[in-house]
Amino acid sequence: KAAEKGGYPHFMIKEINEQPRALRDILTGRIAPDFSGVDLQEVSLTAEQIKNIRKIAVVACGTAYHAGIVGKYVMEKMLRIPVEVDIASEFRYRNPLIDAHTLTVIISQSGETADTLAALKEAKARGSRVVAITNVVGSSIAREAHDVVYTWAGPEIAVASTKAYITQLLGIYLLTLFLGKELGRIPAGEMTDILHHLYQLPKQAQDILDHLNEQLNKMAEIFNQWEDTFFVGRGLDYAVALEGSLKLKEISYVHAEAYAAGELKHGTLALIVKDVPVLALCTQPDVFEKTVSNIKEIKAREAHVIGVAFEGNKEIGKSVDEVIYIPETLPLLAPVLTVIPLQMLAYYASVHRGCDVDQPRNLAKSVTVE
Ligand code: G6P
Repeated sequence: KAAEKGGYPHFMIKEINEQPRALRDILTGRIAPDFSGVDLQEVSLTAEQIKNIRKIAVVACGTAYHAGIVGKYVMEKMLRIPVEVDIASEFRYRNPLIDAHTLTVIISQSGETADTLAALKEAKARGSRVVAITNVVGSSIAREAHDVVYTWAGPEIAVASTKAYITQLLGIYLLTLFLGKELGRIPAGEMTDILHHLYQLPKQAQDILDHLNEQLNKMAEIFNQWEDTFFVGRGLDYAVALEGSLKLKEISYVHAEAYAAGELKHGTLALIVKDVPVLALCTQPDVFEKTVSNIKEIKAREAHVIGVAFEGNKEIGKSVDEVIYIPETLPLLAPVLTVIPLQMLAYYASVHRGCDVDQPRNLAKSVTVE
């Protein structure tokens, strides 16, 4: 076991550290050398079929579901096609409105989750084309789907998903760019710009691992004193807040609630008390001012606010107690980088609290029963 962990104390931190490599692997051979588009030869959808897509249904469980929520923001923005995201166990029992004009995107690390597999079969039975984004070659989901985008993250052992999530995000970006080019919805200049930024992500992920480790280890000590915490953000930051809060809950057993920042005053603000830790994700410029005004509401209750923002964002420092700075990328791609410090915070919180990092109580890596 020790050898399998490659010198790391836990599989989770090993897998967190493998993320730059995983990002590189999923991009390999998929970005055109002139940065004009993506090569997804494995997706056999014809131009005609793509033009006929009226709706995209994304279905998954757990962390993969959170990747799907990022997918909704990304695909709707780029493709201007309505996207629904469903938890697989909800989708399969609600008589979903799926037909031959729906593209179903199934996301699953293992490719074996029972509810997700059943949802896939349900979508197919209703005439929908199915693209699976999965990590395991030859898995049940890979075999059932019409097309598969493999995430090439390598085996993920820790129950809490890290490198699988980050590569699922990349799978979504690649699929979106592929569909967007076919639909003529992404101007050439924008395509090139996005691809150049995608290409930078492995190095930027490495920078986060190299430079933030000590800060995050120390910062996580706050969870020795608190059993509750909150993650807030808007848009894509909200999608990552969901995943950040799940990571912390899963492995450190600290109760964490993710809220769309604008929704806070409709509920959870009542629970914000003096010194309670609040993670505030602020990478989306079009809603930055709005999020800052939500942070002011939180600060008025004297909570301890930790901001997550791009390097060079000086504004945020005026409103929060501490800042986690991540390398700058396009706001569209921010989830790939913002999630890394949140994974590390969860990891160190789990270690400090003496929890079983890789095998949290009551959870399984792959849920193959209902
Ligand atoms: C379990 C795991 C989660 C995972 C979920 C979906 O609950 O503990 O980490 O996100 O299943 O698994 P899948 O293999 O379908 O992505």
